[in-house]
Amino acid sequence: MKIESAVNLDDLRKLARKRLPKIAFDFIEGGVEDENILQRNEHAFRAHRLVPRYLVDVSARDQTAVLFGRSYASPFGISPTGMADLFRPCGDLMRAEAAREADIPFVLSCTAGASIEELARVAPEHGWFQLDPTRDGRIAEDMIRRAADAGLATLVVTVDVPVSSKRERNLRNGFSHPLKLPLRTRLEALRHPGWLAGYLRHGKPIFANRVAYAGKGADADAVATLFTAQAPATTTWRDMERFRRLWPGNLVVKGLLHVGDAVRAAGLGADGIVVSNHGGRQFDRAPSPLHVLPAMHRAVGDRVTLMLDSGVRRGADVLVALCLGARFVFMGRPTLYGVAAAGTAGATRAIDILRGEIDLALAQVGAPSLRDLGPHRLLGDDGDDRRHNRGP
Ligand code: FNR
Repeated sequence: MKIESAVNLDDLRKLARKRLPKIAFDFIEGGVEDENILQRNEHAFRAHRLVPRYLVDVSARDQTAVLFGRSYASPFGISPTGMADLFRPCGDLMRAEAAREADIPFVLSCTAGASIEELARVAPEHGWFQLDPTRDGRIAEDMIRRAADAGLATLVVTVDVPVSSKRERNLRNGFSHPLKLPLRTRLEALRHPGWLAGYLRHGKPIFANRVAYAGKGADADAVATLFTAQAPATTTWRDMERFRRLWPGNLVVKGLLHVGDAVRAAGLGADGIVVSNHGGRQFDRAPSPLHVLPAMHRAVGDRVTLMLDSGVRRGADVLVALCLGARFVFMGRPTLYGVAAAGTAGATRAIDILRGEIDLALAQVGAPSLRDLGPHRLLGDDGDDRRHNRGP
């Protein structure tokens, strides 16, 4: 299948599965323990109906969204995902480039194969940096300084990794540091020559943002050793207050699911929150972000910008999240599928697919712009019409 013939995000997923060895595909795809949370994330969106309003002029639809005082062409961006270079060499910068061209934000993971400085060269206006706090606080502080020096506007601090979670696919595949690859994993990889050629040509992906702290001449293994010694770190509100003092730009807290935590983040001056369960990769019993979003929105109002990720796969999902109080959403896996399948063109395809579906959904619900969305557009799965009949 050619990349242009992928009609939805799941088609991209299938293309990625074909090209990648199982160990790499499982790393993208996997969740934690029983992975019940993965279905829950997607089901949470599907449990909402958007009630169409017809006889409205929707001949022109506008999905531009304003975030932190700046306009983006769509109400979604690309979540930070580490190790993208494992799926395609330069996979991070390819996705940054696709985001820049599509005029949406791209969040570079702390464990990306590209550095903060490279991101600032490729996507100075669209690149955000995601920070994993480190055990040695000086490393995190230095990365914050580097992001500020590079001129990036937005820092995302991920807080939902108090421990490394039990991702059973990775354990079975021997995906660990140091790598302990069973023979069957190695043999299976041989059946993916396209991927293998790229891997052999470029070598093991390196955590580019950590190289500076691993000592002169450190190779990918030495940098990974440093990473495992530094993360996960014990992080508390006191650290977040320190990050707030250090970071002059927009500060976003990623991974909150409790209303009280959202109130506290707003209180310390965070500009945004990504309501997220890490794409179902940390805690199988965690709620889906969509379930906690309305209460969070009631609690913090517009004091802090609410965004959401985990399970967004259709344009209508984006509309549901916006109706429930999110200003913006992010997707993680879909551009990884795209870049694994076809490089920059694949990442662009993922963006175009979601954008196209948002456009159609806006027309279908009779909303020429995102301003027309709100809880009155929704009907619960149980037929509960407490909201939609009250709309204007
Ligand atoms: C992630 N995620 C993640 N989050 C983060 O803050 N820092 C990181 O380095 C990573 N790395 C990472 C790798 C991979 C392969 C995946 C799939 C995810 C989580 C990510 O930012 C986001 O929260 C989820 O991916 C959103 O869920 P969906 O859209 O993938 O369902």
